[in-house]
Amino acid sequence: MAHPTKQPPAPEVEIREMELEDIAPVFILGERLFTSDRWPSLYRTWDEYEVINLFASDGDTCFVAALEERVVGFALGAIIEKRRNPWKYGYLIWIGVDEGAPVRGIGQRLLKVLTQRFIERGARMMLVDTDAENDRAINFFKKSGFGNVQHHIYMTKNLTHDPDYLKRKSRRDKEREHQAHEREASRERRDKPRE
Ligand SMILES: CC(C)(COP(=O)(O)OP(=O)(O)OC[C@H]1O[C@@H](n2cnc3c(N)ncnc32)[C@H](O)[C@@H]1OP(=O)(O)O)[C@@H](O)C(=O)NCCC(=O)NCCS
Repeated sequence: MAHPTKQPPAPEVEIREMELEDIAPVFILGERLFTSDRWPSLYRTWDEYEVINLFASDGDTCFVAALEERVVGFALGAIIEKRRNPWKYGYLIWIGVDEGAPVRGIGQRLLKVLTQRFIERGARMMLVDTDAENDRAINFFKKSGFGNVQHHIYMTKNLTHDPDYLKRKSRRDKEREHQAHEREASRERRDKPRE
């Protein structure tokens, strides 16, 4: 009779509040996940400042998933309060999980912990958003109980033809010209042989 092979225990993933030293690994993981070629219309930008600023302003609603000390996921959120509106909203701004993580369900666990924190902080509604093409995330959010999808359109306008833009540009061009002129004059004065 074949002996059942003993499976190694599933690695333990810990969900914990984000710490200062998590900023770099969170940023690096996000760079792999939020690339512009994947979701060209993702209007928010992922950069170091995004992570640093969120950590500084809303650290208690930023969580990471760690597997043996390695960051394999994160959920960064913020509480939003609006003037003349007694409701508080929990906004999940970024969520990401390393595709190579050997365990499933990390996204769900991050979402659960963040939801609990939002409730503790008095939120009555939670918001998420993502690119309309991001089926995986949309599935993930639907599976986690989000609905009431609202379509949003983002439009752009090139401001470089606006009269105010052109005025400002011409002022700056003149300033630069003046500074170049000043530099040239001072160089000439310096280089002029003394009599
Ligand atoms: C969206 C994301 C955070 C989900 O995290 P995850 O750890 O993979 O998700 P979970 O393992 O907890 O899966 C939960 C559910 O999400 C859905 N889901 C997860 N991966 C999926 C996939 N590849 N395709 C379709 N549905 C998927 C499933 O319904 C899944 O439930 P199931 O395991 O019972 O089938 C992760 O895929 C990710 O980092 N994506 C890239 C970044 C991103 O798009 N973030 C969202 C916008 S900020």
